[in-house]
Amino acid sequence: MIDPKVKIVHEQFDKIPYPNAAIDLSFQDDINSLFKYCITTPHYRRFQKVVNSEKKLILDVACGTGFLTQALVQANPGAKVIGIDISEESIKWAKRRLEYHGYKDVEFYVMPLEDIPKLGLLFDFIHCNDTLYLLPNPVDGLKVMRTVLAPQGIIQGNLHSIYQRHYFYQGHQLYRFLGLMDDSPSDIEFSLLREIMNSLDDRVMLKELTWKASSDDTTLSVNYLLQEDKGYTILQMFEIIRDSELEFISMTNWNQWNVRDLYKDRNNPSEYLDMVLSTSSIEEKLQIYELLHPVNRLLDFWCGHIGEGDVVNPPEEWTDENWQNVMVYLHPKLKHSKIRESLDLAISLYAPFNIHVFLNINSSQPISLYTTSCACMHLLWDKSLTVKELTQEWLRIKPVNWLTKESITERQAFSEIKQTLIEMESLMIVLLEIS
Ligand SMILES: C[S@@+](CC[C@H](N)C(=O)[O-])C[C@H]1O[C@@H](n2cnc3c(N)ncnc32)[C@H](O)[C@@H]1O
Repeated sequence: MIDPKVKIVHEQFDKIPYPNAAIDLSFQDDINSLFKYCITTPHYRRFQKVVNSEKKLILDVACGTGFLTQALVQANPGAKVIGIDISEESIKWAKRRLEYHGYKDVEFYVMPLEDIPKLGLLFDFIHCNDTLYLLPNPVDGLKVMRTVLAPQGIIQGNLHSIYQRHYFYQGHQLYRFLGLMDDSPSDIEFSLLREIMNSLDDRVMLKELTWKASSDDTTLSVNYLLQEDKGYTILQMFEIIRDSELEFISMTNWNQWNVRDLYKDRNNPSEYLDMVLSTSSIEEKLQIYELLHPVNRLLDFWCGHIGEGDVVNPPEEWTDENWQNVMVYLHPKLKHSKIRESLDLAISLYAPFNIHVFLNINSSQPISLYTTSCACMHLLWDKSLTVKELTQEWLRIKPVNWLTKESITERQAFSEIKQTLIEMESLMIVLLEIS
């Protein structure tokens, strides 16, 4: 028997499939999305190994109208992508969308997520966006995904933040009380909601904090009147992952959860807070961030099978001997013609390269790359290099100190390259693999 809570969500998305993004939108020039949805990114974060997407098997669970399925296809060339959703109408749109873009070998199935094992496949990457919080119990959903996750596979999932969406949940209580959420919403509920909000003074808190008069029916349906929408805390997110017998890997936008970015002046932090942070686990640090500054609507995470991730020390802790055996790669999604054009211009003008114009998902502040970083990107464009090779190339570019005119030793060049790579790796502009 179908759970009535699942049935009402199913009805809602059959009536108004999500998202209603225009069919001709493409991710080919959206470097942030290509970076986020490319399997290389979480795989590196988990294993510090560089994989490419060729022949990988990817599942988009609850794919809706296929907008992000398209992102997965475009971010992972050579991979086989399958999308499933409980809503027939959504799957119709998803098929149309992918066909429109010429991706004929993407498969779509109408099925509830508990039936995914019936596909009889193990997936390298399972993506499930904006859905876990609609399920009666997200643990059940994640457990099913775990059963079809290949060894070393990655699940990308998310939950709504209870703090960020606090006023929406308050609104749900009101709309339920007013009878607007008895059923999946339709024209009557939408017009009643608009009529109420338009009649209220702008200083009414719920209106001020949540209402956008320009919202179309889809926005009303997935925000104000979203059936079964539930909010979670970071603590609950970790519990859900653990109860699903999975292991947390990282937030997908990890650099946007950095408490140190919340100081007025990074050089003048609270000594007490810094002391607490220095002994906190990742879970505790995320919790502190969420309680201080709940700006992220989604608690967006990667997780995988328990005990698979090697404990790799961060590059700043590597010995010189480690560095001798490091292979350096430019993140594949940064090898984009738009980046190339802008990088070449920056190099020709001796100007900083403002990479945040293209890649900001992974940083909380603007990032400009200077000479050494630009040189690394340029040198790594066509092929990966060892640190030794990169150092030699850098010595050819900068054999003398540009100010003192003194010769630069190999040791000094190595030190400069090492420091640059550590900074670039923290943003995953470059990927470092110890052989
Ligand atoms: C908010 S939409 C997200 C769509 C898509 N993942 C995206 O982010 O663009 C939620 C989707 O989950 C689907 N869904 C909800 N419960 C489901 C279930 N138990 N099994 C499969 N799909 C489900 C709905 O039909 C809907 O398309």
